[in-house]
Amino acid sequence: MNILLTGASGFIGQHLYIRLRQEGHRVVAAIREAEQFKMVFADAETIAVDYSRDHSANAWLPRLSGIDIVINAVGIIQQTAFQRFSDLHQKAPSALFDACELAGVRRVMQISALGAEAGATSQYHQSKFAADQHLAAKALDWAILRPSIVYGPGAKSTGFFRALAALPVTPLVNAGEQLIQPVHIDDLVTAVIVCIEEELAVKAEIDLVGPEPLSFKAYLQCQRQWLGLGDLRPLSIPYRLARPLVKMGGLLKIGPVNSESLDMLIQGNTAPVAPLVEHLGFIPRSVENELKRTPSQVADRWYAGLYFMPGVLRGCIALLWIMTGLCSLLLYPEVKSLDILSQAGIEGVPATLSLYMGGAIDLLLGLAMFSNRWMKPALIGQLLLTVTYTLIISCLLPELWLHPFGPVTKNLPLITATLCLLVIWRKT
Ligand SMILES: NC(=O)c1ccc[n+]([C@@H]2O[C@H](COP(=O)([O-])OP(=O)(O)OC[C@H]3O[C@@H](n4cnc5c(N)ncnc54)[C@H](OP(=O)(O)O)[C@@H]3O)[C@@H](O)[C@H]2O)c1
Repeated sequence: MNILLTGASGFIGQHLYIRLRQEGHRVVAAIREAEQFKMVFADAETIAVDYSRDHSANAWLPRLSGIDIVINAVGIIQQTAFQRFSDLHQKAPSALFDACELAGVRRVMQISALGAEAGATSQYHQSKFAADQHLAAKALDWAILRPSIVYGPGAKSTGFFRALAALPVTPLVNAGEQLIQPVHIDDLVTAVIVCIEEELAVKAEIDLVGPEPLSFKAYLQCQRQWLGLGDLRPLSIPYRLARPLVKMGGLLKIGPVNSESLDMLIQGNTAPVAPLVEHLGFIPRSVENELKRTPSQVADRWYAGLYFMPGVLRGCIALLWIMTGLCSLLLYPEVKSLDILSQAGIEGVPATLSLYMGGAIDLLLGLAMFSNRWMKPALIGQLLLTVTYTLIISCLLPELWLHPFGPVTKNLPLITATLCLLVIWRKT
């Protein structure tokens, strides 16, 4: 089959892409950044799309030439100024489905989400439901798959939940009693493959869930045990207190935390498994059994333990440079600063220039840390500057290496921390 797979670069998309190719299908990956995708899948056939813009059937028609099946796996969990639920979940998929009808692509599979139904309160679910309804009204061979929380290798939510589970004390809203029914990524992929290859689930809406519900707390306990950390140490937080904290987490961009995802969790996320078994002919695996089957590795434990560190490191490094800049420019007495410079043989206009230019550069390098776009160049600048300062001081004031407060030796962990952040920082 010739399959157009949108969202092929995402967690679900990549798993689908690999398996569909393994099954012998030709898969066209409809994505935003082909170059990045080809770094992983060198022989990939790609096509450029952007759901924030592609809102007309005409934009999609040329991309459907020679395609038998379309699978839509694009989505976001948090909105930004440029990535709106209405655009990504509703307008672009609806235009794509219209184009399928016009181009005669009969089979369309929509990866929706459990809870996308009439009366849903979150914008996430409402926008998904709008596209589902648009598709369901079409005379196509559609299937709407509604996964619960999907877990497995590469799942962003799994990474976050494991990090929560690995904390010395795990905060749980209302004692973590909410019921969820996570489904493993391989079961989701199998569901799609079965739909395609056995032509099952035509005009069907299927909830993709695990075999039975479990509480959020029990889910985190499974993850903690899997990491080899023993029993969860829960700290129950009442919903009214959790909400403002989560709002703050959303502003600080900590994991997938935001008010809407908290409310979705509070509402629970479960469904009967029988329709899945009936339609697709297999029983999904349980979290407990799946985790037992694949023991955790050092990398899993590192990732869970260090999950929150890039954000903390980013804040601390930014603060260090901002404070250094402010001290040089405003807070530390100018006479004392100039005195230090004179000990290094820098005096007069060069000393004043060094003090104020150095301070301004430090301040800028600190402020740049708050911009995703500028953080990487700022880190490189900080590295170069710290190494340069260290070399200059080593030549002009070598006695500072023996200073009891360690003003120069502290540069070594700073250089290491900056290097670490440069390596581990990823786009989120
Ligand atoms: N993961 C779950 O637990 C879960 C549960 C229920 C439902 N779902 C649904 O399943 C779908 C896939 O989820 P996922 O976990 O794979 O998410 P993901 O890892 O965040 O992947 C999202 C995909 O959407 C693409 N995308 C984002 N903005 C785009 C845009 N403007 N134009 C084109 N493509 C864009 C991303 O491309 P880039 O790589 O360019 O960013 C990526 O390929 C979503 O619809 C989600 O709502 C997921």
